[in-house]
Amino acid sequence: MNVLVTGGSGYIGSHTCLELLNQGHTVVAVDNLCNSSRLALDRVEQLTGKTIPFYQQDVRDEEKLSQVFAQHPIDCVIHFAGLKAVGESVSKPLAYYSNNLDSTLVLCKVMNAHGVKRLVFSSSATVYSGDNAMPLQENSKIGNCSNPYGWTKYMCEQILRDIAKADPEWSVIQLRYFNPVGAHESGLIGEDPKDIPNNLMPYISQTAIGRREQLSIFGGDYPTHDGTGVRDYIHVVDLARGHVSALDYLMNHTGEEIFNLGTGHGYSVLDMVNAFQQANHVIVPHCITDRRPGDLPTCYADPEKSREMLGWTATHDLDAMCRDTWRWQSQNPNGYEA
Ligand code: NAD
Ligand code: UFG
Repeated sequence: MNVLVTGGSGYIGSHTCLELLNQGHTVVAVDNLCNSSRLALDRVEQLTGKTIPFYQQDVRDEEKLSQVFAQHPIDCVIHFAGLKAVGESVSKPLAYYSNNLDSTLVLCKVMNAHGVKRLVFSSSATVYSGDNAMPLQENSKIGNCSNPYGWTKYMCEQILRDIAKADPEWSVIQLRYFNPVGAHESGLIGEDPKDIPNNLMPYISQTAIGRREQLSIFGGDYPTHDGTGVRDYIHVVDLARGHVSALDYLMNHTGEEIFNLGTGHGYSVLDMVNAFQQANHVIVPHCITDRRPGDLPTCYADPEKSREMLGWTATHDLDAMCRDTWRWQSQNPNGYEA
C-alpha cells in the first residue's frame, strides 16, 4: 500500500516508516520539522535502502497538502503530526488546540476531496478518565482530561468518530498508545527531545550520559508496590508494528475501531531506573521529589482486543527497552543534530 505518514520524521513516525517499508509498503512523509530532524528519515532510508518522498510542510496548509495527494496515489494515511508536551499544552492551549485540531480537520478535508478514506490516528491513553479501574479497556470511561493536550486527542477522536459515522466508506482506527520508549536496535533512530525531557525514559538516559545531573522521581507515596508511579511502557518498535497491523485491518473493514497499544504490564519509576542501570551497567543518580500535578498513580492497558482483532502483541521486554534506549543515547549523545 502507498501510505501517507504525517509527522513522519518524529519519534514514532520514523520507526513506523521503517516498519512499513520493511513490510513492503511505500511511504510518503509530511512533517514541518517543528519537533524533529530530517536526518531521522535519511537514516530510515539508509536502514531500508528505500526512498521516502518527503515534504517539509505544515499539515494545516490545505493547498500544499492537496498537491501531495495529487502527486501520489495514496491508499491510506497514518496521522502522527501533532504537538505532544503535556506541560506546554497548559501554558499554550491555543497552540495545541490550533495545531492538533486544525491539522486533523484539514487532513480529513483533503482526504475526502481525493477520495482517500482510510485513516489511522495517533491517540493516547491520556483520553481515559482518571477514575477507571485498571487495566484500561477500550470501552473504559473517557474524558475528564487533566490538560489541553489530552482534550485535543479526545476531540480529534470524536471528530473522526463522527466522520466515520456519516460516511460508510470511511475506515478509521484510533490507536491509544500507552508509554512509548526505546529505539530501533540499530541505534540510528530514536527519541530526540528538543528541550529538557518531560518523559521519564529520555530523562533517565540523558542523566546516565551526564547531560542531566539527576532524575527527580515525582512522588514516592503513591499506593503502588514501591510508592512510585506505575505505567505501561511499550517498545517503540512494537508500537510501530501495531500500525502495520492496523493498516491490514483498515483495508478490510469500514467504520471506526479503537485499539489500545500497550503491553498490559505496569512498571514503577523505580523499576525503570533499576532495570536501566542493570541492563546497561550505568548509574542513574536520582532522588524522590513532590508529585507532579495531574499524574495518576497507575495506568496500564488491557491489550486483549488488539491481540484478538489485529493479531498484534508486544514482544520486546523491559530489558530490550532499556538496552535499545541506551544504544541510541550513547551513539547519539546529543541527538540527531550533534
Ligand atoms: P514527535 O513530536 O516526535 O512527532 C510528531 C511530529 O509531528 C514531529 O516530527 C513534528 O515536527 C510534526 N508536526 C507537529 N505538528 C505538525 C504540523 N502541524 N504539520 C506537520 N508536522 C507537524 O512525537 P511522537 O512521540 O512521535 O508522537 C507522535 C504522535 O503520537 C503525536 O500525535 C502524539 O501526540 C502521539 N502520542 C505520543 C505519545 C508519546 O508518549 N510519545 C503517547 C501517546 C500519543
Ligand atoms: N516521571 C518522573 N520523573 C520525570 C519524568 C516522569 O518521576 O522526570 C514519572 C511520572 O511521574 C510518571 C512516569 O514517570 O509516574 C511516566 O511519566 P511520563 O511523563 O514519561 O509519561 P506519562 O505517563 O505522564 O504520559 C505519557 C505521555 C503522554 C501520553 C501518556 C499515555 O507524556 O503524552 O504517556 O499514557 F498521553
